[in-house]
Amino acid sequence: MATQNPPQISSEEYKEVLKTAFVQCYQTSNDAWSYEEAMREVPVYFLECIGSQKGHILDIGAGSGKDAEILLKEGHSVTGLDLYEHEAWQFLSYTWGDRINFVKSQFTDWQPSAETKFDAVFDNGCFHHQHPSLYFPYLTHLKTLLKPNGIAMLSVFTPLDENTDGSFIDFDEGRIGRSFSVNELQQLLTNHDFIWLDSRRIYRPWHEHYLPVHYLAALVKNQP
Ligand SMILES: C[S@@+](CC[C@H](N)C(=O)[O-])C[C@H]1O[C@@H](n2cnc3c(N)ncnc32)[C@H](O)[C@@H]1O
Repeated sequence: MATQNPPQISSEEYKEVLKTAFVQCYQTSNDAWSYEEAMREVPVYFLECIGSQKGHILDIGAGSGKDAEILLKEGHSVTGLDLYEHEAWQFLSYTWGDRINFVKSQFTDWQPSAETKFDAVFDNGCFHHQHPSLYFPYLTHLKTLLKPNGIAMLSVFTPLDENTDGSFIDFDEGRIGRSFSVNELQQLLTNHDFIWLDSRRIYRPWHEHYLPVHYLAALVKNQP
């Protein structure tokens, strides 16, 4: 399952593979992450970090909207973006009215108006599935959507042994995941001009969809 090889197809071809894979996972109820307790620890850590001031948060790869709901309950407004229009979005929109807005799009293809800037950006498990040649456009796009001094959290796979470098992980449907050590993620994000603030390893207990990884949530700040 773990390999050092990035996907052997172009980023454009991989976008289609990724979309098909996630749509299939949701439509066949193979979205184990939607029900994973460790995943839900990430928004709790994010809320601790952003403090009590309420803001407008972009949730990239929002999936079933579980994290968006946690953020909404704390008084924030949320734009949840995903390439799959989850059936839960309708109910969440009905419940939370104009404090929630869902967008169906590939993240790097989404071009909102130039004035659209978020107080904070949250990415729980989306970035680490992208083609490595899209890391740069993905992070640049994220920075463009974030206000100066705005906070972003990215949560990614990390190796079980924290002294080991990350690797690529192949999933059955053709999507890949990439695990990162703290140093690798810190280097990647600071190379993209983010200010590194903090990180937390989130323990992922063994369960039937076992992957030999934990999560690593990184907190960064945009330049002033
Ligand atoms: C592992 S799931 C995590 C979902 C959600 N954040 C959660 O915690 O339940 C990754 C999500 O990212 C979405 N996704 C992956 N690549 C994307 C992209 N390039 N643009 C938009 N959404 C993407 C998938 O459809 C999926 O819902």
